[in-house]
Amino acid sequence: MSIKTGARLVLDLGGPLLWSTCLAAHSTVPCRSDVCAAAAVQDNRWNCSSSTDGRGGAGLCACSAYPYNPLNGQCARGDVTTTPMLANVTDGVNPLYPVAFPVHAACAPGALLGSLPSGAVGVAGLSGAPLSLPSQVAASLKVERKFALCLPGGGGTGAAIFGGGPFHLLVVPEEFGMVSNGLSYISYLRNPKNGGFYLDVVGIALNHRGADVPPDSLALDAGTGHGGVMLSTVAPYTALRPDIYRAVIEAIDAELRLIARTPPSWPFERCYQRSAMWWTRIGPYTASVDLMLAGGQNWTIVGASAVVEVSQEAACFAFVDMGAAAAPAVDHSPAVIIGGHQMEDNLVVFDLEKWQFGFSGLLLGTMTRCGNFDFSIGSQ
Ligand SMILES: *[C@@H]1O[C@H](CO)[C@@H](O)[C@H](O)[C@H]1NC(C)=O
Ligand SMILES: *[C@@H]1O[C@H](CO)[C@@H](O)[C@H](O)[C@H]1NC(C)=O
Ligand SMILES: *[C@@H]1O[C@H](CO)[C@@H](O)[C@H](O)[C@H]1NC(C)=O
Repeated sequence: MSIKTGARLVLDLGGPLLWSTCLAAHSTVPCRSDVCAAAAVQDNRWNCSSSTDGRGGAGLCACSAYPYNPLNGQCARGDVTTTPMLANVTDGVNPLYPVAFPVHAACAPGALLGSLPSGAVGVAGLSGAPLSLPSQVAASLKVERKFALCLPGGGGTGAAIFGGGPFHLLVVPEEFGMVSNGLSYISYLRNPKNGGFYLDVVGIALNHRGADVPPDSLALDAGTGHGGVMLSTVAPYTALRPDIYRAVIEAIDAELRLIARTPPSWPFERCYQRSAMWWTRIGPYTASVDLMLAGGQNWTIVGASAVVEVSQEAACFAFVDMGAAAAPAVDHSPAVIIGGHQMEDNLVVFDLEKWQFGFSGLLLGTMTRCGNFDFSIGSQ
């Protein structure tokens, strides 16, 4: 996300803080302050220090926090500072005017940027903790504690919108559809151990046939923080715990036995000849994967969401084995991590006031995509 010119931050759904590299000369925040107390809210994912050094001291000390890199699990200690943000106000169709506002963020050493995409100078935590980005935007700009993400597929520009809808996307040429009217809403779960957003999933089906996954194997154990189905903007692909992965691979093999395979392409195990696939407007059709939600609805992974095109000849089933693959550093071992690829071209809304999660499903099915938040199309 570019939130000010030239400075890009990685979105981290489970993160409680904003952090970035700082200039040597930066403002600090006193230890004895509400902000410092909020910065002390533990990011339970870290394992760098449990010490409270610098806090509760002589009152004149500078507040520090422990920024955490969700990709490689590293953390560091840095001052809490105040940093300016610049974003556009939108009516959901056009950018209206820029707005500048200060936020509290932690400074991090340059070394903490390791494993982040090049050009990123830090991380924007979206957890809803007091110093997370949605909470600070809500407090500064007096908007709802709510945010929407529309991650672009295929390299376009998407949108992160704070404060609530409506959201319009260019649907067919020259016409805007109010996508936010078509969202399904469910309650999300929080994992108290790692701050993550989880969905209450009771089963997995391929082409409407249940995969052999015991329902309770997907449940989140709030006591230990283990299990559950977590949403992640830092895992590239949906990762499954090995037992669940094997059950899903068996089910996909049964469904796709007639499609010619190609050799595995790491980290993907099941790859197919593109010419043998059925191409539709939602992408290559393999199988639909339903994550069956507790309330009876489904998060359906289909078409371009279910497949990654790895070459001119091959496309692979876009699920990886958590045991073997380059899954990001996640403590408290979720059963399933829904990754960025599966959130692309899907409008998702997190309502932190109502504990609700809204999702559009794959937008390609309604002839649009997140890249159509390219506001310049709609501006006169
Ligand atoms: C933190 O690190 C220590 C030593 O490296 C290890 O023994 C401990 O299990 C780790 N804790 C967590 C929560 O990962
Ligand atoms: C705000 O909108 C203008 C005009 O479309 C665009 O050039 C600029 O990049 C936007 N700024 C941000 C921070 O998105
Ligand atoms: C959800 O998926 C399951 C399994 O494919 C299916 O039986 C059920 O009808 C779906 N529910 C809805 C509301 O589409």
